[in-house]
Amino acid sequence: MRGLKDKVVIITGAASGIGKATALRFAEEGAHVVVADYADGAAAVEEIKARGAQSVYLKVNVTNQENVQAMVDKTIETFGKIDVLINNAGITKDAMMKKMTKDAWDAVISVNLTGVFNCTSAVLPHMLEQKSGVVLTTSSVVGLYGNLGQTNYAASKWGVIGMTKSWVKEMAKTGLRFNCVAPGFVATDMVKKIPEQVLQEKILVKVPAGRLGEPEEIAAAFAFLASDDAKFINGTVLSVDGACTL
Ligand code: CAA
Ligand code: NAI
Repeated sequence: MRGLKDKVVIITGAASGIGKATALRFAEEGAHVVVADYADGAAAVEEIKARGAQSVYLKVNVTNQENVQAMVDKTIETFGKIDVLINNAGITKDAMMKKMTKDAWDAVISVNLTGVFNCTSAVLPHMLEQKSGVVLTTSSVVGLYGNLGQTNYAASKWGVIGMTKSWVKEMAKTGLRFNCVAPGFVATDMVKKIPEQVLQEKILVKVPAGRLGEPEEIAAAFAFLASDDAKFINGTVLSVDGACTL
């Protein structure tokens, strides 16, 4: 991809799954990566460095604005700039609507929606001053079509699409770009929580390829959208889902 060399990228939720695969892909493209996660990201940092890139782990809870501001300050102190933010940290707390608790609603909205607000608002002053920057957010096929047992999650993943489109309407002339990636079902810890029978009999049967996506297949979409190859792509949602919505 063009234009990723020596870019500084913050990836939330980069200690595992899609975030970690994305961190490794950006390292391979020559970018430097901040692994921002509340889980330990030391192993991810080692793998990034093994690819010749610079990397630090910052322990961050995206729901906490002070944590997030410290993440931005530390990134600028370490690398001098922020070129790309990937809002990827996310959780599920699935239950059918009739059984969904207010706690489950609040927890998911707090990480998946408010966390995206916190991180984006914290990098904006720097990116606006720099007159360049890319903010990418992990939505989901569930944010486009809904899903059984995921009222809270669907609201959050639908919400980040609305936020992204609003930012483009506000800031398209500033040199900043904002896009979402909407993965289908991908082989990470998140999917391991789905009851096996539901996964096999209700979900995979609807995927024409008959398989889960791989985290690296989502990482490739992020690398493209962050690169100069995508510089006229703004406010879009790139589905990477094995056509599971056909
Ligand atoms: N799609 C289609 N049918 C589903 C379904 C799904 N995702 N989830 C549950 N069902 C069906 C079940 O097969 C079951 O059908 P039958 O009555 O025909 O057997 C019915 O709904 C009720 O399910 P349960 O008996 O399991 O009900 P429960 O109240 O015990 O549990 C549940 C409900 C917590 C939603 C549980 O079924 C579950 O965890 N389902 C998976 C939900 C899911 O798809 N989560 C995605 C997580 S991965 C992710 O979120 C990443 C992403 O962005 C794609
Ligand atoms: P994962 O569970 O492997 O990774 C999520 C990461 O986010 C973890 O490292 C976790 O520690 C971190 N995290 C959670 N809450 C956090 C918080 N408050 N602050 C900081 N870090 C936090 O799951 P996966 O699948 O890699 O998920 C990444 C993103 O992709 C999530 O936003 C998820 O909703 C989304 N997604 C996942 C799909 C899948 O099928 N796996 C499909 C579509 C979207």
